[in-house]
Amino acid sequence: MAHIVLFGNEKGGSGKTTTAMHLIVALLDLGFKVATLDIDLRQASLTRYIDNRKKTIENEKLTLLQSAHFKIAEDYNINNSIEYTQKDIEELENLITKINTEYDFIVIDTPGNDNILNRHAHYLANTIITPINDSFVDVDLLGKVDPKNYANAIPGIYSAMVWEQKKHRALRKKEEINWIVVRNRLSSIDVINKRNVETAITHLGKRLGFSIAPGFGDRVIFKELFLHGLTLLDTKKSNSKIQMNPSVVTARQELRDFIRSLNFAEVNKKL
Ligand SMILES: Nc1ncnc2c1ncn2[C@@H]1O[C@H](COP(=O)(O)OP(=O)(O)OP(=O)(O)O)[C@@H](O)[C@H]1O
Ligand SMILES: [Mg+2]
Repeated sequence: MAHIVLFGNEKGGSGKTTTAMHLIVALLDLGFKVATLDIDLRQASLTRYIDNRKKTIENEKLTLLQSAHFKIAEDYNINNSIEYTQKDIEELENLITKINTEYDFIVIDTPGNDNILNRHAHYLANTIITPINDSFVDVDLLGKVDPKNYANAIPGIYSAMVWEQKKHRALRKKEEINWIVVRNRLSSIDVINKRNVETAITHLGKRLGFSIAPGFGDRVIFKELFLHGLTLLDTKKSNSKIQMNPSVVTARQELRDFIRSLNFAEVNKKL
C-alpha cells in the first residue's frame, strides 16, 4: 500500500505546493514510485509546477525524474468547482484505491480553503504536512493563542478539521494520521517573533498532537524554481538559470533536514 502524504493548511500561501514539489522530487531521487494528485482544482499550482517541469525536460533535453501525475478533473471526472458532491468524493476514493498498490507514495496537494473534497482527502492521508508562515496570523488557524500565556490555546479552525478527520479515520479504519507542522519562510532577522511563534507552536503541538519539522528560510530561490518546474534538488542537473549561491546551499541543507525529520520508515531505510 502506498504511503499517502497530504499537504494541507486552510491558510493560503503557506507553502503547501512548494514544499509538496520538493518532497515529491526528493522521493523520486530516492528511487520511490510516486503518484501525485492536485485537488486544488482552481489554482492547480502543483499541476502547473509539474507541467513546467515537463516543458523544461523537453526544451533542455534533460533526464529529470517525474511523478505520475493524475489530473483528477480532466481524467477522473471530479467537478472543477468549489461545491463538491458525494460523487466527487467517491471518484477520489476510487482513484486512490486503484493506484494504491502501484506506488510507494501518493502525494496530494490541497487548496488553502475548506471544502468537503479537501476534508475527505485529509481523512485518506497517512501523513498530513502543514506548512505555516512564521506569523501569528498563520498560527491562529492551528490554535487561538492567549497573548499573555502561550500555553493557553484553543484549537483553531484548521486543527479542529484535522482533529475531526483523525477521529473518523480512527473509528472507520482503525488507523492514525501522523500530523507534522513545518515552519516556512523563516526570517533571519525577526528573532523575537521567530522565538514567540516557536514557543506557541510547541505548546500547540503537545495539545493538538502534531510534531514540528525544521523549516525553510525565506529565500528568493523558491520563487524562481516554479517557472522551470525545478526544485533545489535539480539545480546541479539543469543548465537552466538557477545559480548556486550560499543561500541555495543552505536551502538544500534545510530540505535534507526536513526530509530526515519526517521520519518515514521507507525513507529511513534508504538514508
Ligand atoms: N521558503 C520560501 N521562501 C520564499 N518564498 C517562498 C517560500 N516558500 C514558498 N514561497 C513562495 O510563497 C508563495 C506561496 O507558496 P505556495 O504557492 O507554495 O503556497 P500554498 O500554500 O500552496 O498556497 P495556496 O494556498 O495559494 O495554494 C509562492 O509565491 C512561493 O513561491
Ligand atoms: Mg498551493
